Amino acid sequence: MSEPTSMDSLLDDGRRFPPPPAFVATAVAPADIYERAQSDRLAFWADQSRELLHWHTPFTETLDFSGAPVARWFGDGELNVAYNCLDRHVEEGRGDRVALHFEGEPGDQRSITYAELTTEVKKAANVLSQLGVKAGDRVIIYLPLIPEAVVAMLAVARLGAIHSVVFGGFSAESLRARIDDAQATMVITADGGHRKGSVFPLKTAVDQAIADGATTVKNVLVVRRGGNDVEWTEGRDIWWHEQMDSASHEHTAEAFESENPLFILYTSGTTGKPKGILHTSGGYLTQAAFTHKNVFDLHAESDVYWCTADVGWITGHSYVVYGPLANGATQVIYEGTPDTPHPGRWWEIIEKYGVTIFYTAPTAIRTFMKLGREIPQKFDLSSLRLLGSVGEPINPEAWMWYREVIGGGVAPIVDTWWQTETGAIMISALPGITATKPGSAQVPIPGISIDVVDDSGAHVGRGAGGLLVVTEPWPSMLRGIWGDPERFKETYWSTFENVYFAGDGAQLDADNDVWLLGRVDDVMNVSGHRLSTMEIESALVAHPMTAEAAVVGANDDTTGQAVVAFVILKSRYVGSESDQELEKQLRTWVGEQIGPIAKPRTVFIVQELPKTRSGKIMRRLLRDIAEGREVGDTTTLTDTSVIRTINTSVND
Ligand code: WT7
Repeated sequence: MSEPTSMDSLLDDGRRFPPPPAFVATAVAPADIYERAQSDRLAFWADQSRELLHWHTPFTETLDFSGAPVARWFGDGELNVAYNCLDRHVEEGRGDRVALHFEGEPGDQRSITYAELTTEVKKAANVLSQLGVKAGDRVIIYLPLIPEAVVAMLAVARLGAIHSVVFGGFSAESLRARIDDAQATMVITADGGHRKGSVFPLKTAVDQAIADGATTVKNVLVVRRGGNDVEWTEGRDIWWHEQMDSASHEHTAEAFESENPLFILYTSGTTGKPKGILHTSGGYLTQAAFTHKNVFDLHAESDVYWCTADVGWITGHSYVVYGPLANGATQVIYEGTPDTPHPGRWWEIIEKYGVTIFYTAPTAIRTFMKLGREIPQKFDLSSLRLLGSVGEPINPEAWMWYREVIGGGVAPIVDTWWQTETGAIMISALPGITATKPGSAQVPIPGISIDVVDDSGAHVGRGAGGLLVVTEPWPSMLRGIWGDPERFKETYWSTFENVYFAGDGAQLDADNDVWLLGRVDDVMNVSGHRLSTMEIESALVAHPMTAEAAVVGANDDTTGQAVVAFVILKSRYVGSESDQELEKQLRTWVGEQIGPIAKPRTVFIVQELPKTRSGKIMRRLLRDIAEGREVGDTTTLTDTSVIRTINTSVND
């Protein structure tokens, strides 16, 4: 584990932004919410759950942690997650409210009400169940960000089955690994999706992934979106629209236990193999709905909410699908990239739909900063009243730009810290209560207990840095790693006894506010997406030309971190082609093995890698080189000439 970097000044320049009085006057979160949560944490969560959700069978037991580290929340209650996101809104008279304003990249649009979405999900649940999907089965969803992705997730949930959404940018190889690990029986995909002005094929990747026939997949349901040609395997492949056209509109949601698994979402860890993070129903939905309502100050009747995440990531699960729909929110979903067909596309969408709450990642904000404020200033963004940030630390400069240029200098910003594993937001300001500080995620949300500790597990105190831990179980916590209980314990619960270790470094300031300092393990954060150094190294080493490879995350002005690889070639390939040509081949290879997001920004072809006497690659030195610094202390190196060799190759 590497040392968290300590930021002496914490970049804190003393700026504080108290909530505007008009915001406070109508704020959703009551002023005494922290006290209420503190006086009885479990009673607080039980109240929230009863208030926010419909329980078919009310629970009497809030938390059972006797099977630690696997928790049971609301264990004797029963609910249906999809019913909570759909039917009850219709039954309670909110059926005409728009659930989704969908904007396709080519400019097509559909607004779908809660009544319509409910019908679509009922039909889809009938389709899936006719194809044999039942409670507990795993269904892979590999779709663009189109309404059918939301419908598919909710239909799977409605049946008590388990979805595993695979981001459309992942390769056939990555898809196959997830299908195999989850032993999925169905894949829901599309012919293709729209991205950067062209159609990218998805069905082709599914075909490749299961080409050998030796998979658990029985059916592939295909949504028509891209209009591109697809190959067809009779008996296995089925058009979504053909099934939906003839499906019954009637479907009664059955109640499932609170701990019924809801989804598996794969994320990168410190080893080469992605982890299948398992989330269950009642606790997850409670915290997703609670945070969505209170952190985003949701007034469901009047707000138009937009979270720019894809449903392939946890942010899309909790803050596009489950949180907003459980709360009956109206939201925007957009299929494409921010700059297609013009760099003002996002701001145009905000103006068009009158978006009031906007949630995005620092990397996007920094990209827009570079393009210049003239672009957003061409649009009317005055509807925005709250801004959110997620995925990586937001630097104060980007925070201020976001506030001034996008938020008109008045909209509060909530910087939300959480993880795939935590399921929902854990640390954030509450916008009607907290005076915000550019650069700090600030305080645990009510009902959540976190701490910053030193290597021995002791609290570090104000002004000091250490490791971020969660000290009490929380409703939306992961319930395990799919098929690997040992790895679950080892990864999160073995560093300190009985507390959850998040993998992040953090520092407390003089006010006891939390500043996140980035990962302390071999996990990189590129554009808010998590990548494993080991996974990319394994991919590089799998290439026939590669003898050895090391990967580091180097600081990058736009993406936060960038993947930089150092590769030693097998001797017969040395000098076979120009370094540029070799670099190109290796980048493409990583894209094929994992997905375009994992492509290294730079590949350095080197003769040696710096190693300690025990043979460990010295990543700190490689990071120094990748970031263009003088290399640090090399006294433990076996061979200092290695550094010279690398430096020479880098400077070539
Ligand atoms: C890692 C989790 C949570 C959804 C998106 C990423 C980093 C996340 C923040 C933030 C500083 C943040 C952490 C964390 N991270 N949000 N507001 N400030 N760092 O989910 O892929 O599971 O990654 O993202 O390092 O451990 P994820």
